[in-house]
Amino acid sequence: MRAGVRVVVTGGAGFLGSWLCRRLLADGADVVCLDSLVTGARANVAELESQPGFTFVEADVCDPIALDGPVDVVFHLASVASPVHYLRLPLETLRTGSVGTTNVLDLAERTGARFLLASTSEVYGDPLEHPQHESYWGNVNPIGPRSVYDEAKRFAEATTAAYRRCRGVDTTIARIFNTYGPRMALDDGRVVPAFVQQALAGQPLTVAGDGTQTRSLCWVEDTVDGLVRLAASSSSGPVNIGAEDETTVLELATTIRRLVGSTSSIDFVPLPQDDPRLRCPDITEAMGLLGWAPRMPLEQGLSATVDWVRERLGADLDRQPA
Ligand SMILES: NC(=O)c1ccc[n+]([C@@H]2O[C@H](COP(=O)([O-])OP(=O)(O)OC[C@H]3O[C@@H](n4cnc5c(N)ncnc54)[C@H](O)[C@@H]3O)[C@@H](O)[C@H]2O)c1
Repeated sequence: MRAGVRVVVTGGAGFLGSWLCRRLLADGADVVCLDSLVTGARANVAELESQPGFTFVEADVCDPIALDGPVDVVFHLASVASPVHYLRLPLETLRTGSVGTTNVLDLAERTGARFLLASTSEVYGDPLEHPQHESYWGNVNPIGPRSVYDEAKRFAEATTAAYRRCRGVDTTIARIFNTYGPRMALDDGRVVPAFVQQALAGQPLTVAGDGTQTRSLCWVEDTVDGLVRLAASSSSGPVNIGAEDETTVLELATTIRRLVGSTSSIDFVPLPQDDPRLRCPDITEAMGLLGWAPRMPLEQGLSATVDWVRERLGADLDRQPA
């Protein structure tokens, strides 16, 4: 990202958003982090608040966005993102994907900014094509419990494409696959922090189904680099951003158990409804258009995440009253 540009990051106090804000500030951009804190935390950006180029605005993107001054780029990440939260907040999730995305696109139109939508591999649903290329239209149950997230993102993609076609807004779409790393919320049920915490506590690692379903896990700084490169390109997307190394959920559990040095058992629990069986991106587009591919080896990234969770839990324990 060019130094001196003014960038708005919606959802900037979340996991991915907080890494993106750091990266953009390091590149020399001015960053406005806009977040309702529904699942994010001010603590994720606390150390950025003293930096001159950083502004935090507490706001819900479902309300019209009142922001003065020029904007060069908008990264629209605001969305409830994990099953625990979107099953708890189904209507809010749909509203953020629809009304919220429209409001953020209006901001981009008003200011002439480049707009990047953080979409998701979940638009492919339980895919019938493997690996998933951007040309695949997906296999989504439109009324199942997960649909509030999947369809909100599909609506957000459709709105983004329509603003490009009909209003001339310079938009692009990133389809992000599972991303992991420090600052993931520890309580939102995502598979990496869940396994790490269970292993550290010596509790059974709870694997859904028989664990043969696959996920492709990308280190957070690699994902963020992909988003920045896509925003800096002229591509309208969609472009898959994710790691090609596919791992089964059971392999992931045993790897994390080994890295933690735990003797926890593995417990098999029922598979959630409409859980995707296969998840692996085709990243030919990202490699060709953006010169991007993930760099962090999985075990190294998982080790760094284990260290962070260990430190974080230690700090939380220190804060408990004696
Ligand atoms: N982390 C992943 O593996 C992954 C994969 C695919 C797509 N994504 C997408 O990337 C984005 C960020 O995900 P994350 O993992 O950092 O999740 P996160 O929950 O940590 O961050 C989302 C942020 O958006 C904010 N937010 C939600 N609704 C809002 C609203 N109406 N107005 C303003 N702020 C709002 C939350 O408070 C939070 O800070 C999401 O759009 C998500 O769908 C993430």
